[in-house]
Amino acid sequence: MRHLIDPTDLSMSELDEIINLALDIIDNREKYADACKGKKLATLFYEPSTRTRLSFTSAMLELGGSVLGFSDAKSSSVAKGETCADTTKTISCFADIIAMRHFEEGAALVAAMNARVPVINAGDGSHSHPTQTLTDLLTIKREVGRFDNLTIGFCGDLRFGRTVHSLIKAMSRYEGVKVVLIAPEQLRLPSYMKQEVCDKNNIPYVEVSSMEEVMGDLDILYMTRVQKERFLDEDEFDRLKDSFILDAEKLKKARPEMRVLHPLPRVNEITIDVDKDPRAAYFRQVENGKFVRMALILKLLEWAKDESKTIDLIPADTIRNQHVCSTKRCISNMETGIEYLFRPRTDKPGKFRCVYCESKAKL
Ligand code: CP
Repeated sequence: MRHLIDPTDLSMSELDEIINLALDIIDNREKYADACKGKKLATLFYEPSTRTRLSFTSAMLELGGSVLGFSDAKSSSVAKGETCADTTKTISCFADIIAMRHFEEGAALVAAMNARVPVINAGDGSHSHPTQTLTDLLTIKREVGRFDNLTIGFCGDLRFGRTVHSLIKAMSRYEGVKVVLIAPEQLRLPSYMKQEVCDKNNIPYVEVSSMEEVMGDLDILYMTRVQKERFLDEDEFDRLKDSFILDAEKLKKARPEMRVLHPLPRVNEITIDVDKDPRAAYFRQVENGKFVRMALILKLLEWAKDESKTIDLIPADTIRNQHVCSTKRCISNMETGIEYLFRPRTDKPGKFRCVYCESKAKL
């Protein structure tokens, strides 16, 4: 079976296939109107969503398929204590493909380990959001025309921002990409991302404390929201929530071809006066999300029938039940019946990372 749990689950040629299919769908909508006739998508959303859930729904309906699921896990048997594994086994009896969003990191991986149909990670806690990454890549392709030789500024919550983590991973595979990290001290990119993604792939990065000082250097400014729901300490959220705000005045320093992306929702980190600037691409980005999810659904359903497309969910060097994850929101610490799975760290020999959420082992 083939799933999408992490953006790097897709080879470069598979990624190209998905982007090119999305571009063809944009140009030939009627050609795909019955492409998923008789197929069912289950959307299992344990966390709020507007764009991801409804763009998946819209994508499947435009392909001629149907959609079932829940947008609030409290209305399902999760409220009675059912585990993610059991819910997934159950939904595999009803649907041909599953899109899951969960507040527990690693939930989509656990779902994939238990499903009989393809599972798409629609966001797992602070960890990963690969279909947002596909949306971002299609937007970059349409707005900028290339993936290589780009300087991308990531601004806002780089610590908990799963869209940032996933996009940096995806962009680290292209030549000549430079990353500029614009965040307050407390919301900086996690060290595993710097060491095991940027350093490992020779992606240069700088950390700066204002967007003004780098605005003129950027090809893309990727804005993010400071996410209240990820903070355990509300006072800390209040201190950080207004850290970086993009307005029309700051945008004057940007090049005419620079593009502003944002996964949305926004709160106040981009003022409304920016929306009318042609460089503001975030609402065009939303529409790209539907097209790329149409392409992804088609490809995963096609690859589900092809054994050569199966990839190992658990890497061969995984060690079982010898360490405990340091992240409270990791599914291995939140649900029963989950094995602790760890892999050796490439940056620190003798140390380990959780397979579900990529956090360190607890000391
Ligand atoms: N970008 C994104 O994931 O938006 P939603 O939370 O509305 O799905």
